[in-house]
Amino acid sequence: MAFDVARVRAAYPALADGDAHLDGAAGTQVPAAVADAIAGAWRAGIGNLGGAFPGSERSRRLVAECRRAFADLVGGDPGGVVLGPNMTTLTYRLAGALAAAWGPGDEVVVSRLDHDANVRPWVQAAARAGATVRWAEVDLATGELPAGQYDALLSGRARLVAVTAASNVLGTRPDVAAITARAHAAGALTYVDGVHAAAHGPVDLAALGADFLATSAYKWSGPHVGAVAADPGLLSGLHPDKLASSPDAVPERFELGTPPFADYAGVVAAVDHLAALDPRAGGTRRARLVASTTAAEAHEQELFGELLAGLDAMEHVRTFGRAPRRTATAYFTVAGRTPRAVAEQLAARGVNVWNGHNYAWELTGALGIRDAGGAVRAGLVHYNDRTDVDRLLDGLAELRP
Ligand SMILES: Cc1ncc(COP(=O)(O)O)c(C=O)c1O
Repeated sequence: MAFDVARVRAAYPALADGDAHLDGAAGTQVPAAVADAIAGAWRAGIGNLGGAFPGSERSRRLVAECRRAFADLVGGDPGGVVLGPNMTTLTYRLAGALAAAWGPGDEVVVSRLDHDANVRPWVQAAARAGATVRWAEVDLATGELPAGQYDALLSGRARLVAVTAASNVLGTRPDVAAITARAHAAGALTYVDGVHAAAHGPVDLAALGADFLATSAYKWSGPHVGAVAADPGLLSGLHPDKLASSPDAVPERFELGTPPFADYAGVVAAVDHLAALDPRAGGTRRARLVASTTAAEAHEQELFGELLAGLDAMEHVRTFGRAPRRTATAYFTVAGRTPRAVAEQLAARGVNVWNGHNYAWELTGALGIRDAGGAVRAGLVHYNDRTDVDRLLDGLAELRP
């Protein structure tokens, strides 16, 4: 049976606005179950942690369930799931904690494929520690991040390799396992950005060789909550700045202040929703997640093939990226129009796309398009259908010079 996209779409109230939502890479819509879970948590009553009354106990359970949900999504240990407002904040937090042990002569490897949130925190932490930053380069013709270059990059005293599991503009999925294997052989830790990847297929922390794996629920039908999954033993050895009065246990040690308990209920509902995308999937929630996101990825890739064929057939459209393994994310410019003008003209037709560098700061700089407004990004997620693709292609055809 084919992926039942009509059934999936019916779960998302916001899709009823009639727009073609191709902006999912910047944040998806949420199913009714997620909005209901958040409202339900508030309606049931929420108390801060540590109180002697039921609302506080409910919040304690929400935190535990949220950790379990993120852990199931990435194949991690709930006891090693650090929760936070978003990936950027968490990455700065982890960079600060890890860099406390770095010094002059140590090296950190970042990539020009990555979203700036997996670059700048490391570059700045390295600068403070006196450590050296080494850069993995992108093959600009294909958008690939060749793993072989890491042999030379890891010849020194590397402490950390930060790399993305998928580019948020080109969609490129580097061979992360090959990169992290090299990093580990050189004695470095690995920090993998799974924010874009987790929205487009199954993610497995161990298979990626990630010591730390970051993800953000708003990219996959959840609320604005981020998480970093790691081995609890690894986290135990790190000591971030924290209040004297807050828990020193792992993973709480890394979490600052009062969390958004109700949103945590939304994270659980989003993970349950992803696990049910393929109603035939059975077994544990982790098993259902793997099966369902695999089915969703196949659906996205089928549509993506049509989208790319349509874009390639238009002489006035220039696409970026040709990596054989990539998410259903198209990045392109239109002759004679700025990316912003294209996005505005498409928006006038009810087609929602993103424009700009999309924080792929180094990559768009290397491609020479950052200062000219970047490019247009049209990203498919599991709730997009053929009509969305057709509407985008029709809109672009009208922009022929
Ligand atoms: C690949 C990638 N990494 C990191 C981020 C930053 O995530 P957050 O908004 O959770 O800080 C994004 C957000 O666009 C992203 O797409």
